[in-house]
Amino acid sequence: MSSGFPDPVAPTAPDPVFDPLVPHPARVYGYWLGGKDHYQADREAAEKVIRCCPQVVAGARANRAFLARVVRYLAGERGIRQFIDIGPGLPAPASTHETAQAIAPRSRIVYVDNDPLVLVHARALLTSTPQGSCDYIEADLRNPAAVLAGARQTLDFTQPIAVLLLAVLHFVPDTDGPAATVAALSRQLAPGSHVAISHLTGDFALGPVTAGVTAYNTLVPTAVIPRSHSEVSALLSGLSLVPPGVVPLTEWRPTIAGSCWASADMYAGLARAPGDRHDHPPHPAVTRSLQA
Ligand SMILES: C[S@@+](CC[C@H](N)C(=O)[O-])C[C@H]1O[C@@H](n2cnc3c(N)ncnc32)[C@H](O)[C@@H]1O
Repeated sequence: MSSGFPDPVAPTAPDPVFDPLVPHPARVYGYWLGGKDHYQADREAAEKVIRCCPQVVAGARANRAFLARVVRYLAGERGIRQFIDIGPGLPAPASTHETAQAIAPRSRIVYVDNDPLVLVHARALLTSTPQGSCDYIEADLRNPAAVLAGARQTLDFTQPIAVLLLAVLHFVPDTDGPAATVAALSRQLAPGSHVAISHLTGDFALGPVTAGVTAYNTLVPTAVIPRSHSEVSALLSGLSLVPPGVVPLTEWRPTIAGSCWASADMYAGLARAPGDRHDHPPHPAVTRSLQA
């Protein structure tokens, strides 16, 4: 697969922000998605993981399909017009603002990542409709106060917001308190708000996933941690789950357009924010075509 970047020809001095010789989580993930922004080191790491766990490619693509489904559900059936996408990765088709603004052009999206490289690409390529807005914040998920302070510059916290934590919580070890982070983020949201997650698991194919994770964590500096169903569910503890709950990612509302039938070693779930004690009726703008 060809790269959008020239390959490095000689070793360069280590750079904490950008080193093409070190596999980069977002570029490795982008390779599995079929993107073009990767270097030799990224491709080698991605291929090594594929050799250990061939379904990783289908899993990454199924995760993007879940992103599209859950944003369609939130924008269409729940009428959400504000999104915080934490850990968006490199720009890929059907990104959050494209999907949300296709339904509601005035939607406002804040992209948050702790990787400056991801944000450079996001600012250049994840651009809003004229009616809506996209903002880009460099912040670490493990500092929810910083994420919220940045998002408040753009979003109205008296109105519902959807926080997307897709394929990012598995980069946060238990010692950094991922469940407490999700709780801290969701406590600040208005009634009608939601939190969506997707997360790597070894529950369905323990051997290949363990081998893939071992290869990934040997080559890529940001380690990934698969979690079981109960561990992923605990990340949303205290929140009210939207049916069907925390389920294998491809089984989350598969009738919404954008579903993907390949299997994935991931769980997905959507929960209502704590201030939202009621199961709201569907948004009036809902159309059955969303479930076609
Ligand atoms: C695998 S990509 C996921 C992309 C996208 N969310 C998706 O599901 O297709 C993970 C992203 O999370 C970001 N990330 C990892 N750890 C993070 C942290 N602690 N805070 C913020 N972003 C983080 C990475 O830089 C990368 O952009």
